[in-house]
Amino acid sequence: MGLPRDPAAFAIRPAVRDDIPAIAALHVASWRESYAGLIDQRLIDERTVEARRAQWSAILDGPQRRTLVAHDRSALFGFASALILATPCDGYDSYLQLLYLSATAKGRGIGGALLRAIAASLLDEGCRSMVLRVLRRNPARAFYERFGARLAPDGLTIDAGLFDDVIYAFPDLHAIAQRSPSPTHSRSPA
Ligand SMILES: CC(C)(COP(=O)(O)OP(=O)(O)OC[C@H]1O[C@@H](n2cnc3c(N)ncnc32)[C@H](O)[C@@H]1OP(=O)(O)O)[C@@H](O)C(=O)NCCC(=O)NCCS
Repeated sequence: MGLPRDPAAFAIRPAVRDDIPAIAALHVASWRESYAGLIDQRLIDERTVEARRAQWSAILDGPQRRTLVAHDRSALFGFASALILATPCDGYDSYLQLLYLSATAKGRGIGGALLRAIAASLLDEGCRSMVLRVLRRNPARAFYERFGARLAPDGLTIDAGLFDDVIYAFPDLHAIAQRSPSPTHSRSPA
C-alpha cells in the first residue's frame, strides 16, 4: 500500500460499518506482524479475518464504544477503538482497547494522530482519563510513554488475564489531546 509521508495527506474520522472489512483485515495483519514471537502463535492464527469481521460487526456500534480510522482517498491504514467506562475503574473513565496501523503506516505520526483524536473524542463525551493494556514485551510501550502514560497498578478487570501485559494510565486526557506532533519525527518510517 503506497502511503503519503506528509501527515497532512491522511485524515481521521469515525468508523462506519462499511469500514468493517478493511478494519478486520488490518487487525489480522497487524497482529501477525506485531505479535509473532510475543504471544502464542496459535492465538494469532485463530484470529482470522472472518473472526475479526464477526467481532467488529458485533461491537462497532456499541453505545460505549468510539472507533476512529485513519485513511487517505484510497485506503484505510489505521484505527483506534476505546470504551467509555460506565463504572470507572480505579478512577479511570475510559479504556483504549485497540490501536493498530498497517506496517507501512508506522513511524509517520499517524499512531500519534489517532491517539490525540481518540483522546479528543473521549473528552467530548465527558471522559477525563484513560487506561490501556500493552503486552509487557511490546515496543509500543515507548509510544505510550512518549505521550505521558504512566504504569498503573493491575486493578483493571477488562481484558484481564488474557496476556502477559502491563497497564498504563493517562490521568488527564487533555495532556494527550494537546500534545503537538514533533516537527522532526524522532523515528524513521518502518
Ligand atoms: C504503536 C503504534 C500505534 C505507534 O504508531 P506510529 O504511527 O508508529 O507512532 P508515531 O509515528 O505517531 O510516533 C509518535 C511518537 O512515539 C514514538 N514512538 C512510536 N513508536 C515507538 C517505538 N516503538 N519505540 C520508541 N518510540 C516510539 C515516536 O518516536 C514519536 O515520538 P515523537 O513524537 O517524540 O517524535 C504503531 O507502531 C503500531 O501500530 N504498532 C503495532 C501494533 C501495536 O502494538 N499497537 C499497540 C497495541 S496496545
